[in-house]
Amino acid sequence: MIKQKLAIEGGKPVRTKPLPLEFPGVHHMDKLEIQAGLRLLKSRSPFRFYGVKLQNEVEKFEKEFARAVGSKYALAVGSGTGALHSALSALGVGPGQEVIVPAYQWISVVAAVVNLGAIPVLADIDDTFTLDPADVQKRITPKTRGIVLIHMSGAPGDAPAIQKLARKQGLFLLEDCAQCNGGSIRGKKVGTFGDIGIFSYQMNKNMTAGEGGGLVTNDLRLYRRAFACHDLGYARDDNGRLIYDDPDLCLWGRGYRMDELRAAVLRVQLKKLPRIIRNMQRSKYRIRKALAAFPQVKLRRIQDPKGDTSCFLITTYPDAATAQRVCRALRAEGIVTFPQGVSNVVMTDWGLHLYYNIVSLVNHNSIDGQGFPWKLAENAGLERNYAKGACPTADSLFERSILIPIPSCLTKKDEDDIILAFQKVLSTLL
Ligand SMILES: Cc1ncc(COP(=O)(O)O)c(C=O)c1O
Repeated sequence: MIKQKLAIEGGKPVRTKPLPLEFPGVHHMDKLEIQAGLRLLKSRSPFRFYGVKLQNEVEKFEKEFARAVGSKYALAVGSGTGALHSALSALGVGPGQEVIVPAYQWISVVAAVVNLGAIPVLADIDDTFTLDPADVQKRITPKTRGIVLIHMSGAPGDAPAIQKLARKQGLFLLEDCAQCNGGSIRGKKVGTFGDIGIFSYQMNKNMTAGEGGGLVTNDLRLYRRAFACHDLGYARDDNGRLIYDDPDLCLWGRGYRMDELRAAVLRVQLKKLPRIIRNMQRSKYRIRKALAAFPQVKLRRIQDPKGDTSCFLITTYPDAATAQRVCRALRAEGIVTFPQGVSNVVMTDWGLHLYYNIVSLVNHNSIDGQGFPWKLAENAGLERNYAKGACPTADSLFERSILIPIPSCLTKKDEDDIILAFQKVLSTLL
């Protein structure tokens, strides 16, 4: 390969036009979503349970989503965070319990555990950038109630191994598929390995209505409990009537309902999801193939490339200084998105995805100012250290890895530019 002067050293950059923004579902929004939204607004019935001319969009979306994932029941809610709260409530999480969460995560996960009065316990990740089953095993105590496996940055974690471990230990498994909607492992969709799988339809996700969330389960009791918690506190029978005579289903609600307008848009996006994922996969695996020529660059370990939704590319370098140099040089070559996009970052700049950046967790903050949930009598002795150092493999991977979003609308020229920039930078700096 001919070495060219790097843009960071005054050479000509590979490209000057920013790459498209991430937001996989947004790039595929067109007249179909507009028509769905208009149809719904014309019906003047935006609430899921009754209306002037109820369209039952939420109910139809739930059925279609359950079918797409391969689950018996689906519940649409207002956000992925609402889905986490509803799922953990359905699973009976509360004070005196520990819930294992990964070091690489999103703040909403740990917030849902804390808001319910339980104690989050961090487990380390491995080169899949998701839970390391061996480390999870080490973090289990008599107080552990369950495990949250998060399929981070588009690719599934080792759900079969974590499922086996959870079953053996009598723990629940909640899969967070917010960043991996449509992902699978050897043909089995993420969200179906655990007791419950949650999803987000927020704008950064593989399909979107701007905001929104959902959960899936095969367990009728869990579905009804989640339903109760997301609504008024009461489950509904098959005729839609509230159930008042089952103490397990007469709970406390949070008002996390999905509205008809978003469900109408999501029904369209769900149909487009396979195409959105196909586009990202094609781009990502073309880039990964080109990077195989550089053995010093480690590519994220993927369980099953066919099931990788591919919205992010993660590359890992021998040390933190090299990762920083490569990232800066790639950015100078034009491998950046518009300013409001995620672009191309060393993972230490990936904000509230890293456990040690979640200040309220590290400092054991509480909403009531009285130390909830850390100081509850039930949680005595369960407090943990969440500062940097708690998960050494994650700490090292974050410092040495670069994360690049793979938009769902890259042209062949965009892909060529990314590959060329990598080739130029890596052949000079490594
Ligand atoms: C892994 C993960 N879980 C949960 C959520 C929460 O979803 P929402 O933003 O829809 O509340 C997100 C959203 O970014 C996420 O990335």
